[in-house]
Amino acid sequence: MMLDNERANFATKLGIILATAGSAVGLGNVWRFPYMAGQNGGAVFIVIYMLCVLLLGIPCMINEFIIGRHAYANTARAYRTISKSRGWMLIGYMSVLTGFLITGYYAVVSGWCLQYVWASLVGHLHGEPDYYKSYFASFSSDPVKPIFWLVIIMLMTYLIVKNGIRDGIERASKLFMPTLFILLVIIAVASCMLPGAHAGIEFLLKPNWSMINSDVFLSALGQSFYSLSIAMGCICTYASYFSKHTNLANSAIQISVIDSMVAILAGLMIFPAAFSVGVNPDSGPSLIFITLPNVFQQAFGEWPVVGYVISLMFYGLLTLAALTSLMSLVEVSTAFCQEEMKITRKAATLIVVSSATIIGVFCSFSLGAYDGLAFFGLSLFEIFDFVTGQIFLPVVGFLTSVYIGWFAPHKVVRDEFTNWGTLRGTYFHLYLLLVKYICPICIIFIFLHQFGLI
Ligand code: TRP
Repeated sequence: MMLDNERANFATKLGIILATAGSAVGLGNVWRFPYMAGQNGGAVFIVIYMLCVLLLGIPCMINEFIIGRHAYANTARAYRTISKSRGWMLIGYMSVLTGFLITGYYAVVSGWCLQYVWASLVGHLHGEPDYYKSYFASFSSDPVKPIFWLVIIMLMTYLIVKNGIRDGIERASKLFMPTLFILLVIIAVASCMLPGAHAGIEFLLKPNWSMINSDVFLSALGQSFYSLSIAMGCICTYASYFSKHTNLANSAIQISVIDSMVAILAGLMIFPAAFSVGVNPDSGPSLIFITLPNVFQQAFGEWPVVGYVISLMFYGLLTLAALTSLMSLVEVSTAFCQEEMKITRKAATLIVVSSATIIGVFCSFSLGAYDGLAFFGLSLFEIFDFVTGQIFLPVVGFLTSVYIGWFAPHKVVRDEFTNWGTLRGTYFHLYLLLVKYICPICIIFIFLHQFGLI
């Protein structure tokens, strides 16, 4: 067992929770969850989702906590440390690779958020509904502008991550996460006070049992996995900076609660405003970059200053959500480079950030500036999204569960779960049961479902 002070670690429990929740709370909470909830039975979906978080999300998060904290090392080395075998070690490498590949394209979208903060600030974001569409289309396919913002957001990430865990990631998370939460609550309250807002609240929260089918279950499962940032090395890497006193199971529960609360609040921010002006909300990039700027502008049209402030706050909160996730992604590869190549943290961060930026530039170009960057009819951007999100993610998650459930040294798993017997570990057997049987089966279902096989 290594001593705490031999390697960087988080200073406080709050720092651990906020940083890890920062990784989990991302664009998926805003552009995916509310729409899924609205479409799939409202409150019923939310209950099913919470169940999926309990049955799949939390156990998978604890798996990664155990692997990361046991090794006190980057994710690739962490899998090697616990398994002592080359085969299982490959999962670690795959996590790091997935995290790295995603960084570039996640950064592109994070850059867009920042550009929209700027656009709100200088007052570019108002006009007819069609204006928002053409504004986004021309911006995202521009060869220069998105690259500029990509570089800026990467620079910000670099400046934070290079300072290390306590002075960089922990400090930034302690500032960003509460700010994000306050902005979210203010916009949600403003949105719920609009005339006709109750229809939106009803759409999101009214239980509609008739909508329940197997599709709803599978989508909720997939979303719970994605929303908690499982299987990209982020959770495992952060856990390698936890202290030996951190209660892993409790932390996983607290982080999941924060993540779910943000997702529901995001729904309360979007639907009441959209229904109040009679716009149908959608999901994905078009929701946050086309539909919502228009909705906010119309909803608060009578008070232009409020509209201006809300739009600024909205993109500010999106940028914070994206930035804290980006930090965790960059940290995965930074820890890997630093420890495997034995270089300084600064150098490692620089290498990761610059190479991810290059990937981001190509992803961004593939969205319109250069048509040549398309394969099989998909842009490079979509290919990255597909390969990492739909293939690597479930594979890593599945193998990790199978490993922890069936092959990992039982004593290590137990010791980490109970902090070497100092915690009661009441739910240890339940956790093991979930990891052995339920998680692998659920992940296979998610995998087959997303390819339309079930
Ligand atoms: N959890 C993030 C969200 O809800 C998305 C995400 C998945 C992610 N895996 C990640 C973000 C890894 C950062 C790192 O949007």
